Amino acid sequence: MSKRAGGEEPRSKVRLGVIGLGSVFEPYAALVRDLMHEGRVELAATCDVASDRAARVRRFLGQDAPFSTDYRDVVERDDVDAVLVLTAMPSHGEIAAAALDAGKHVLVEKPMSIHLEEAAELVAKAAAAGSPLLVCAPHVVLSPTYRALWKRIVDDAEIGTILTARARYGWSGPTWGRWYYETGGGPLFDLGVYNITSLTGLMGSVLRVAALAGTAVAERQVDGEVIEVQNFDNYQVLLDFGEGRLAAVTTGFTMSDYRSPAFELYGDLGVAQMLGDDWAPQGYEMSLADTAGWTIYGEADAAWPWTAGLRHLVDCLIDGDDLLIRPEHAYHCLEIMVAAEAAAATGEAQTISSRIDPLPYDPDSIYVQRSGKLDHDHRIRRHRD
Ligand SMILES: NC(=O)c1ccc[n+]([C@@H]2O[C@H](COP(=O)([O-])OP(=O)(O)OC[C@H]3O[C@@H](n4cnc5c(N)ncnc54)[C@H](O)[C@@H]3O)[C@@H](O)[C@H]2O)c1
Repeated sequence: MSKRAGGEEPRSKVRLGVIGLGSVFEPYAALVRDLMHEGRVELAATCDVASDRAARVRRFLGQDAPFSTDYRDVVERDDVDAVLVLTAMPSHGEIAAAALDAGKHVLVEKPMSIHLEEAAELVAKAAAAGSPLLVCAPHVVLSPTYRALWKRIVDDAEIGTILTARARYGWSGPTWGRWYYETGGGPLFDLGVYNITSLTGLMGSVLRVAALAGTAVAERQVDGEVIEVQNFDNYQVLLDFGEGRLAAVTTGFTMSDYRSPAFELYGDLGVAQMLGDDWAPQGYEMSLADTAGWTIYGEADAAWPWTAGLRHLVDCLIDGDDLLIRPEHAYHCLEIMVAAEAAAATGEAQTISSRIDPLPYDPDSIYVQRSGKLDHDHRIRRHRD
């Protein structure tokens, strides 16, 4: 059922406040520009604790807007409908909560909070009748490729029951924002979250988590300074989905490059793999028990931007679309990540108490390409085996 927030009247334009004008502001700004051009968004106010970042508004959005170094000045404005929280992770929860309390719709970058209790409060605030909408990054479940995979794997069960899975996402790590390496940053919240969101959307709730983690690079050069790394920067996380179904997630600021699928799903009737990254899919490939080898399906929308949660929020507010990214899912992923930290620190597997519902897609609205390109090399190799 469509949830038009707060029983609001339909609107034609969303007045946006942007809080946090650092690195990720630039890709979001590209989408904000598109939405402004389409007449669906208006920039109402901006904020960053660093006043010199105000200049980035004109640079990336081509216009000025009221600026403050205090986020409260944005969330309390009458002319702001929705707030984009793009700050460093430790402040996400506090800012998102203040915005929801002020009746503003919120898109918050991941994770919604670094504290589970604070995250639970955000979920509760967004669940109350007539509450504003809360969209939590990452937005991977919105990509057309992910939806096509979901349709084939969950709705049509083409690979049967997923028995085991592997996922990976990493890079060599940011050279900006020392908070990434200090309290509340870290590659699990920053990168592993994409894999965990993808896998839980396809395999369901995680019941138990085990993990090993370490700090593989003790010092980093960040914003021109050498700093001592306080967080883990390297993780191997194991997820138990029950009934013997398992997944492994490899993530870290320790992976300079790779040539492997974003995730691999091994079912009792076949195998499916997303190519590229969860946030930038390059199509997918499947090997079914009754076919000769791998079939590759091209990227459903090569122009799909990983910032798409913002367009989705705007579509929900203007057109009354159903919210497809649910705060409960983001909370479940956060509980898994917090548990992984505890498992790595104690050496003991941790139990997960939250559960998620299936993704709320309309299967009939999902486009699935039915014929793909056969991987001949694989077919020949398999034939020789
Ligand atoms: N950088 C990327 O490519 C990227 C991609 C996807 C998601 N993200 C996510 O975006 C978020 C921000 O990452 P980033 O790389 O842009 O970090 P950043 O350090 O470059 O930018 C964060 C900005 O927030 C400001 N800030 C911090 N606390 C604030 C507060 N209380 N009030 C107002 N402003 C505050 C900082 O001054 C800084 O300008 C993170 O959650 C990250 O995981 C980043």
